[in-house]
Amino acid sequence: MGNKKIFANQKMYMTKSEVETFIQAFHNQPMDHLVICPTALYLPLFQQSHLQLGIQNIFYEDTGAYTGEISPVQAKDYQVSYAIIGHSERRMIFHESNELFQKKVDACVKHDIKPIFCIGETKEQYDMQKTNQILKRQIFDVLKNVKKEALGELIIAYEPLWAIGTGLVPSNEEIKRITEYIKSIIYQTFHVSVPVLYGGSVNEKNIESLNQIPNIDGFLVGGASTDSSKILKMYEVVVS
Ligand code: PGA
Repeated sequence: MGNKKIFANQKMYMTKSEVETFIQAFHNQPMDHLVICPTALYLPLFQQSHLQLGIQNIFYEDTGAYTGEISPVQAKDYQVSYAIIGHSERRMIFHESNELFQKKVDACVKHDIKPIFCIGETKEQYDMQKTNQILKRQIFDVLKNVKKEALGELIIAYEPLWAIGTGLVPSNEEIKRITEYIKSIIYQTFHVSVPVLYGGSVNEKNIESLNQIPNIDGFLVGGASTDSSKILKMYEVVVS
């Protein structure tokens, strides 16, 4: 993936006027290492800006009777280059399945959209030291069925569920060890090198320390990503 990137997962936050103000803050600033994933409804607001775009959710068919869904073809109309797939909120609240994730990954790659596949363990699994086992299963259950060409396009986001929106973050040593584990099992099994992002309570205060982790390829930022001044601070750290 080259240099590190910040992916802003803005979830269902922000109103139209807040998004407009947010976009203004990046005017005339080179932001090559930033990808904004706004509420899909606001993608048109970004069309005059130079900001790279991702989508928070995507469907796997190109077109058809799928009420409420957005196809990769439609996302491409708005210059979407990345799609978040398998986020824990989609897993837990919307009960999305591994089969659905696999179809979404394949559909994205078919349309030249890079899938950001999210994995992560619960607090209970973490406490029981089952993190590796859980991550391995989450990875294999989906990757074993995706098309070969999709594997090379994939980005993994490691997001421990207990770190999302809680202010809790694993130690740098833990994130380093887990990132290494993810990269090595994928390499050994599928013979591809995948970039790995860390996500979960990343903010403008802790990013300097997190950025020291040697094998991290970037960050997936939720709550702190709706504030342009926080993004600019985090961006400075990541590109320095
Ligand atoms: P957070 O969310 O930064 O608010 O913890 C991260 C995510 O859900 O991607």
